[in-house]
Amino acid sequence: MCGIVGYVGENNATPFLLKGLKRLEYRGYDSSGIAVLGEEIGCVKEVGKIEKLEEEVSKNELKGSIGIGHSRWATHGGVTEENAHPHWDCEKNIFVVHNGIVENYKEIKNKLIKRGHKFVSDTDTEVIAHLIEHFFKGDLESAVKKALRIIKGTYGLVVIAKKDPGKMVAARMFSPLVISVNDKGSFVASDPSAIITHSKKMIFLEDGDVAVIQKDNFVISDIKEKIKEREEVTLDWDIEDSQKNGYPHFMIKEIAEQPESITNSMRGRIVLEEGSAKLGGLELVEEELKNTKKISIIACGTSYYAGITGKYLIEEFSGVPVEVSLASEFRYRKKVIEKDETFIFISQSGETADTLAALQEVKKKDVLTLGIVNAVGSSIARETDAGVYNHAGPEIGVASTKAFTSQVVVLSLIALFLGRQRNLSLEEGKEVANTLLSLPSLVSEILKDDSEIKEVAEKYKDFKNFFFIGRRYGYPASLEGSLKLKEISYIHSEGYPAGELKHGPIALIDESFPTVAICLSNSVYEKMVSNVEEIKARNGRVIVLANRDKKDVKELTEDVIYLPTAPEFVSPVLAVVCFQLFSYYVSVSLGRDPDKPRNLAKSVTVE
Ligand code: AGP
Ligand code: GLU
Repeated sequence: MCGIVGYVGENNATPFLLKGLKRLEYRGYDSSGIAVLGEEIGCVKEVGKIEKLEEEVSKNELKGSIGIGHSRWATHGGVTEENAHPHWDCEKNIFVVHNGIVENYKEIKNKLIKRGHKFVSDTDTEVIAHLIEHFFKGDLESAVKKALRIIKGTYGLVVIAKKDPGKMVAARMFSPLVISVNDKGSFVASDPSAIITHSKKMIFLEDGDVAVIQKDNFVISDIKEKIKEREEVTLDWDIEDSQKNGYPHFMIKEIAEQPESITNSMRGRIVLEEGSAKLGGLELVEEELKNTKKISIIACGTSYYAGITGKYLIEEFSGVPVEVSLASEFRYRKKVIEKDETFIFISQSGETADTLAALQEVKKKDVLTLGIVNAVGSSIARETDAGVYNHAGPEIGVASTKAFTSQVVVLSLIALFLGRQRNLSLEEGKEVANTLLSLPSLVSEILKDDSEIKEVAEKYKDFKNFFFIGRRYGYPASLEGSLKLKEISYIHSEGYPAGELKHGPIALIDESFPTVAICLSNSVYEKMVSNVEEIKARNGRVIVLANRDKKDVKELTEDVIYLPTAPEFVSPVLAVVCFQLFSYYVSVSLGRDPDKPRNLAKSVTVE
């Protein structure tokens, strides 16, 4: 899901490709590469920073008037030079860069191997180059379109061919691509920031578009040869802003990406007709999972709160008991590990020192270890026996947002899978699957109009202490909401199980100590209303998250944030998206930097 650049014109493509990739660095990546067509096609790829690629390119004298480049955020295949893009075909005629996931790459790869194709990487992308080669008879556009009829999944891709020079063929399906043509030539990229210094006039491709781009023109059509007219827009960004695609901060951009990242976390993993989940990364351990008698979840910070949510999900859907531990505590505790116990390690970065150390402790015992990781090829991903990647795309903001919701979605899929291995019925499984499939649009509903959240945030921004309280799924959601506020606004906050307040913490309540209470229409609504009344009886101010069917909630407080009504097990995702926005608006109104909060690092690789 990372960066693509391409150029065709009178100038040497290489400098544009390298500068364009540097402008896309902010999106996070693990490797990069370029291919340039001059007399021959030269290709250089490197793991690590773009500077390493630049150094290597300078030794290779890559010159040519057409070229493509890519910064990779690995999804299939570890972080190696062979797996970096561009990828090529057997005869090194076709070169392709690709953002996204080819879901049916295994079956395509097996068929092409049977036809004698030789693969050099572990990626899904490489099958695109060989499939185009299979159809290539001299016309690149035609071969690409034939290949796209077979490929399933998501792509933004750009292809060049030595034997059909002077053009790039670009295709978009769920992963953005933009074109710009001017007197310097024709540019294509996955993000305007790579080309905005050459031109602000952009043509955004739409899903299904295939564009043939030459040095002074382009034609857009679909795989059925229907010509598409796309309007040219003039951006009002400048380069500093466009690194965030027009958003003021990465955090708000990543909050806004959650309908897409949640979709990507589920893509190809729900089998609706079976009311179950299909998790490729767990295929080899399905039998062990079937025999699992206990699950232990180990994580830190936000990932730990996702883990607590996972406890509720897995116990509810499968009946398997779950224990959740902070990695920093677990690793020093006496290990009481039971037979048939499975350990799940949750980590966005896959490099968190405490979580990694806990994993290494557990690996000394003969138990199954699974990872739920966003960064492909990271240490925790490599060292666990099996696992499920989030596919949430790079998360740049220090405060975790789309990673958390993606972790909860993946845990829901694991809970569904375990449940269907046990006593969860086909009907119940279908109900869970359908609810998960509706989640992106429920989140979009919150994002579409966050004015209520913004208003309440600005009203409460000067308070110095908060409680966040909830019950059942609302409890871990409260912990995460409290952490979000602390992290990016520096206001003291505590997440608490609502039922615990009367066991001491309520002594803190007065008019200067507001409470955020999750009072959604579910099994604990009445209990939550009682807790809110207890707080009000002590002059405490309350912000309530509610659904619109509860007309009496306005009698509790004037500060109500309404969320879409949904089954209880997806409520933590909806409540936390609300808390992400609440914390973001408080932080910004206090003049903080939500992307780089003081004292914090994105990946805590120290103990
Ligand atoms: C969450 O907003 C923080 N960035 C932090 O708590 C984070 O969740 C924690 O450090 C764990 O990181 P990981 O998921 O990369 O292991
Ligand atoms: N799925 C491809 C890979 O793993 C592309 C990943 C990306 O979007 O950067 O190489």
